Amino acid sequence: MNTSVSYLTEKEAKQELARLAELIAYHDRLYYFQEPEISDADYDLLRLRNKEIEEKFPHLIREDSPSLRVGAPLLGPFGKVVHRQGMLSLDNGFEDQDVYDFIDRVRRFLGISHEMPIELVAEPKIDGLASTLQYQDGGFSLGATRGDGTEGEDITQNLKTIQDVPRHIEFHDFPALAEIRGEVYMRHKDFIEMNAEREAQKLPLFANPRNAAAGSLRQLDPRITAQRPLKFFAYACDSYAPFHVETHWEFLEKLKRWGFMTNPLAKVCETAEEALAYYHDLEEKRASLPYDIDGIVYKVNRLDWQNRLGVSTRAPRWALAHKFPAQKAQTLVNDIFIQVGRTGTLTPVADLAPVTVGGVVVSRATLHNEDEIARKDIRVGDTVVIQRAGDVIPQVVQVILEKRPPNSVPFSFPHTCPVCGSHAVRLPGEVARKCMGGLVCSAQAALRLRHFVSRDAFDIEGFGSKHVDAFYKEGLIKTPADIFTLEKKERESPSPLQSREGWGELSANNLFRAIEARRRIPLHRFVYALGILQVGQATAKLIARHYMSYQAWKEAMIAAKDSESDAYADLLSIDGIGPSVSTDLIAFFDEPHNLEVLKALLEQVIVLDETPVDVGKGPFANKSIVFTGTLQHMTRQEAKVRAEALGAKVVSSVSPKTNYVVVGESPGSKAKKAQEYGVQILTEEEWLEKASH
Ligand code: IVH
Repeated sequence: MNTSVSYLTEKEAKQELARLAELIAYHDRLYYFQEPEISDADYDLLRLRNKEIEEKFPHLIREDSPSLRVGAPLLGPFGKVVHRQGMLSLDNGFEDQDVYDFIDRVRRFLGISHEMPIELVAEPKIDGLASTLQYQDGGFSLGATRGDGTEGEDITQNLKTIQDVPRHIEFHDFPALAEIRGEVYMRHKDFIEMNAEREAQKLPLFANPRNAAAGSLRQLDPRITAQRPLKFFAYACDSYAPFHVETHWEFLEKLKRWGFMTNPLAKVCETAEEALAYYHDLEEKRASLPYDIDGIVYKVNRLDWQNRLGVSTRAPRWALAHKFPAQKAQTLVNDIFIQVGRTGTLTPVADLAPVTVGGVVVSRATLHNEDEIARKDIRVGDTVVIQRAGDVIPQVVQVILEKRPPNSVPFSFPHTCPVCGSHAVRLPGEVARKCMGGLVCSAQAALRLRHFVSRDAFDIEGFGSKHVDAFYKEGLIKTPADIFTLEKKERESPSPLQSREGWGELSANNLFRAIEARRRIPLHRFVYALGILQVGQATAKLIARHYMSYQAWKEAMIAAKDSESDAYADLLSIDGIGPSVSTDLIAFFDEPHNLEVLKALLEQVIVLDETPVDVGKGPFANKSIVFTGTLQHMTRQEAKVRAEALGAKVVSSVSPKTNYVVVGESPGSKAKKAQEYGVQILTEEEWLEKASH
């Protein structure tokens, strides 16, 4: 029997918190990787006890406390799974030329001549949902969605219901530990049948097979998923290493032999022309295939080349997704209204008569900005051609002038914000008209908060746009810090959340728990969440990897205000950050209001330092390195990737902080600068020698 919390002495409380931390972590592991040993209710009791003790003895809260853990399970419907290897996306191409360029890029990177053929495997790009399947000793042990690429959702039970997903693999050459990746999708025929049944039962219909597959896969009850006609094509893995193959094609053959479904249309192509013929052939056959595809994926067949090519921030350099052209349709513009974005930009949006484009009903299209409307002269009442390209928001391509009603007038773009009435100003050189209301404009503030809690930012589970907007309107949350004091305020409030319509004890507690779980936040998510202009996820990751801690980043941004400073040179040296992004970063930290918001937020959350990539102790681990001049043994780009794999930061300009400058033939001013600063200079041979240890 557990002693009631109110009778615990401080010493006992400390021991009890240690015991609970270990016990809860143990059950978390079981829950994720094996079968749970205790019921959900019992598990909740453990967490509750932990929380009660922490409330009574806040100074005893442990660093590894379960209440602080990011992504604690049982928060939302599905547990989180951190992918052992990130699930990447693909670079896109749209025209034939993009395929030639892709092959050229590969050639240049690897430094191979034009005579040497580069085999590509061409595969249909299935329009479904990427999923990953882990196998342990031949048994399917864990399955997850792609999520944000780093972290997905545990949908093991649902994946187990799909016939194409083998539960056991008995072949002796199947690796003891393997992760197979592919696409969950639904065939047209099955989709139509399923929708017909739903219609008969007066259930809402799915817009297209992809949405139907997504909805089916995210069912809380696997028995429902089991009734949905889902299929799976395998086409990738987390690492080819355990498969002992030399080409992607061999890998696909093995998958087939082991009982996975691979796409029967996949083909090896020797030349760009052959790849393009394949593309155009399937483009024609597209409508008659039994499932949706939205393009072709080309993958460099040789795995030694794939390895050398490696990955850039978000996509492998050895693959290209060649998208099919956007699908088009005609419809009527019922109205044009203005949306105000997170950064105050006024965006015109067309309200359209609903029309189906590429299997999706579209009733809105972005008109981008003032100039775009004027250039295309889009008016209310016009008939327009719209198009959808992949996941991109539909766009208006052109107006059909013959169908324009006689009394129509050009659209006049407002000069005040439709939300707060402040002036909307267009600064010289900018296309966007922006609301000057800043924080008084509720549209901007609420959208910033939505961004802050969104999936790739703080990822506060169950805290959707509707809640954010409602809380903002009621004045409960004005800045991000308020999110983290919400529970405390609510508990003291005369009308706490759980007593309000649409909320109950459980949903309120779930929300509070989801918020608690994010008090410790990785640096890159934190940077992205701030919503600094031009700082998207990829840039946020570059920043996090470069500065490693919030404190270092902040100090550098303040110092970089002086464009003569080392901090400024260092910021610009980050590959992928140019002067324009730098200006926005510096401006953000130069705004006193932002610093106040940050200060309040940092009283609530702990920003975790970026964990250094596990780079061992090699000579280049965590060192910064500049390559200059022409290298003889590998291209500059390959050298860069190699250095990064050894844990180095490759920068483009020499500063006193640079550790090494590698000089190839006919180096320029950078070598001189290195001498001036006393930075160690390596010849290409010296670099190769050190890098191969
Ligand atoms: S390969 C590292 N092959 O496309 C490369 N992806 O835009 C991993 N997809 O998230 C992907 N068919 O959902 C690959 N034959 C195919 C594919 C395919 C569809 C999807 C996948 C991925 C997205 C990338």
